[in-house]
Amino acid sequence: MTATDRTADTPKLRAGVIGLGWAGRQHIDAYATDPTVDLVAISGKEQHLLDQLGDQHGIEGRYPDYTTMLAEAHLDVVSIATPTFLHAPMTVQALEAGLHVLCEKPMAETGQAAATMVETARRTGKVLDIAFNHRQRGDVTALREVVESGGLGEIYYAKTGWLRRKGIPGMGTWFTSAASAGGGALMDIGVHMLDMSLHLMGEPKVTAVSAATHAPVGPRGRGGSSFQTSSAVEDVPFEVEDLASAFLRMEGGGTLLLETSWAQWIPYDQVYVTLYGSEGGASVEWGGDPRHPYQRLNVWTEVQGLPAELRPEVGEHGKHAAAVANFLEKVRTGEPGQHVGVEALRRARILDACYASAKQGGEVALEL
Ligand SMILES: NC(=O)c1ccc[n+]([C@@H]2O[C@H](COP(=O)([O-])OP(=O)(O)OC[C@H]3O[C@@H](n4cnc5c(N)ncnc54)[C@H](O)[C@@H]3O)[C@@H](O)[C@H]2O)c1
Repeated sequence: MTATDRTADTPKLRAGVIGLGWAGRQHIDAYATDPTVDLVAISGKEQHLLDQLGDQHGIEGRYPDYTTMLAEAHLDVVSIATPTFLHAPMTVQALEAGLHVLCEKPMAETGQAAATMVETARRTGKVLDIAFNHRQRGDVTALREVVESGGLGEIYYAKTGWLRRKGIPGMGTWFTSAASAGGGALMDIGVHMLDMSLHLMGEPKVTAVSAATHAPVGPRGRGGSSFQTSSAVEDVPFEVEDLASAFLRMEGGGTLLLETSWAQWIPYDQVYVTLYGSEGGASVEWGGDPRHPYQRLNVWTEVQGLPAELRPEVGEHGKHAAAVANFLEKVRTGEPGQHVGVEALRRARILDACYASAKQGGEVALEL
């Protein structure tokens, strides 16, 4: 059933969004254009954004205080796109209030905080989903189909990275506080690559990690992105890493190499996942000089004994709209306890293990 078919015979879901920064606006746009949803309330600390976004989308409920929104707006679903340390308390509160929740990545600042979110979703019988929007790229979904069809055989090794030249977000805001963000580049953008890699590899369990973190650039006030966040600059010190690398061991012997940076002396930003399988290899990558950006999906294999390169057809990038549509589908069709954020919790625990490993200077085992 398509979204348009549904409007005819299904009551619309009442949706709200907490957080009006870049991320929150992606959720607002997605709900505002979905005919199966009424976007009735938004919450954020910036009065000018409440007014501007409220007027733009005809949203009557504009709440500086999200608790009042949860109590008064009669919502069915809510998106949470606030600073990371607020994800767990806001999600728990919304689930307890009987709402289904779509929360931004990273799930929470620690695995422990993420576990409270999953436990509450289980207990309340509501859907908890995490917005890993980069999975919705056309090249990533095309590569997932190649993997699922067995085109690469058994994947035993992968390499992934998101490397920025000058892209520290929100200098002086919650983004660079250890307690508020939980970490730096690894927590912020490395988590997308971890998610994408494990998703493409068929969700293998990670058994151990060895990681290192570095901060040679940010603490000197350099490497900041020109992109402005919504949060006010409060001169928060730079307490997190601007570069991280990690080696992950999987159940069954597979391995994954992950590197990520907010700032690094490289010619231009690069993002990639490379998979190595028994029957083929594949790489999805994008980035480059903004004047000549590249975006490639390649698959290398053999056809009738001859080396061959395949170029799968690539569809549109689904972006946040697809992440929101997936969430709404889970709300409509899922059974209680079926969608409670378990995959995202695994990512949060892997990140915990990476930071513990970096601190200890040795490999850290994960409980399966
Ligand atoms: N999926 C993605 O591609 C993506 C991209 C950017 C950010 N994010 C994630 O989204 C989250 C927000 O990031 P951002 O860049 O939009 O941040 P931001 O700092 O620009 O915006 C945060 C918003 O949260 C609001 N907020 C803070 N405390 C609040 C409270 N008590 N009640 C109501 N609103 C409150 C602020 O008013 C602001 O509108 C982060 O977890 C970040 O990691 C995801």
